[in-house]
Amino acid sequence: MYDPTSVARAAAEAAEALKSVARDQALKAMVMDSQELYPLLLRAARRYVCGEEREDALATARELSARGYLVSLEFIGENTHSADECRRTTDEFLDLIAACHLPDSTISLDLSHVGLSVDSALAASHLTELAAAAAKRGHTIMISMEESSKTDRILDTYRKVTGRFANVGITIQAHLYRSDEDVRALLNYPGRIRLVKGAYQEPPDVAIPRGSELDRRYLEFVAHVVEAGHPVSIATHDERIIDELKRRGYLGMPSVMVEMLYGIRPDLLRRLRADGIKTQVYLTYGREWYLYLCHRLAEYPPNIYTAVADIVDPRRTETVPY
Ligand code: FDA
Repeated sequence: MYDPTSVARAAAEAAEALKSVARDQALKAMVMDSQELYPLLLRAARRYVCGEEREDALATARELSARGYLVSLEFIGENTHSADECRRTTDEFLDLIAACHLPDSTISLDLSHVGLSVDSALAASHLTELAAAAAKRGHTIMISMEESSKTDRILDTYRKVTGRFANVGITIQAHLYRSDEDVRALLNYPGRIRLVKGAYQEPPDVAIPRGSELDRRYLEFVAHVVEAGHPVSIATHDERIIDELKRRGYLGMPSVMVEMLYGIRPDLLRRLRADGIKTQVYLTYGREWYLYLCHRLAEYPPNIYTAVADIVDPRRTETVPY
């Protein structure tokens, strides 16, 4: 007999397991190095990742732009531990900026991908270089937020660079207790604030779990930033939150955009775009999709079924679903 309680429990257990799997570097290395596992799991990742090459993401970006969406592009990766590799990553981002001719585009990045795991000064110098290149093209650089152990260093780097380049924005995770104060302080800086719930597994004294309390906090943060007239990206797929923000009249404001990850709730984003709301799709590409895929499955365990179907029939992910 179908028992909704045990199904919900199994889904919650799967989500926790996937978040642990995401952090397991040995497992990740095994997948990346395996000639059998890598291509198989890539089929599942393709629902959320445009492909392995820059041009894969740019082609999708052009298609979405023609349909009236803004785009945010990321060469996917994090925790790069050698200065040479951080340089190569920065060069890839510079090439991406140069190749992206779509107006008002955003380039998203993890600071630990371009230097933070080596040294904060290296991250700041690469970020400055990228911000200058993006400013010439009219693009924004959006810094993603990583595990809470890095939050202070990420915010410090952001503050250093956004003073010179107002086209640099920052992501804030509503699930962290500290974010109340961080959001208030960030209103004194010019960059766009992207509000997310938070994807990383954190200890209970640092973050609150998914649930009504987190949803209430998320709404509170949005209200605070919107009412200050500060540029904001509402980055959630939560339809109830979107409906509430729409009811409050926030979504049509010029400082506000709604941003969703490629492949997740395209139906909802399409409806918002049809209502004249500024909508942005977050596109990723590259070979480092392992952590990204684990997060997307953990956030919504029914995606595990979708992943199995995509592995069996990869044609399912060939069309852009917007
Ligand atoms: P929540 O997880 O509560 O889900 C609400 C509803 O949305 C679900 O019931 C389901 O209907 C739908 N949904 C959510 N996730 C889904 C999925 N994977 N598949 C299908 N449906 C789904 N995090 C972070 O820690 N640092 C960062 O820098 C970023 N950056 C970022 C940028 C952008 C543009 C987005 C949209 C998100 C991020 N995130 C992030 C991820 C974010 O923290 C969060 O984990 C996800 O957005 C999922 O949370 P929701 O707000 O969608 O709500």
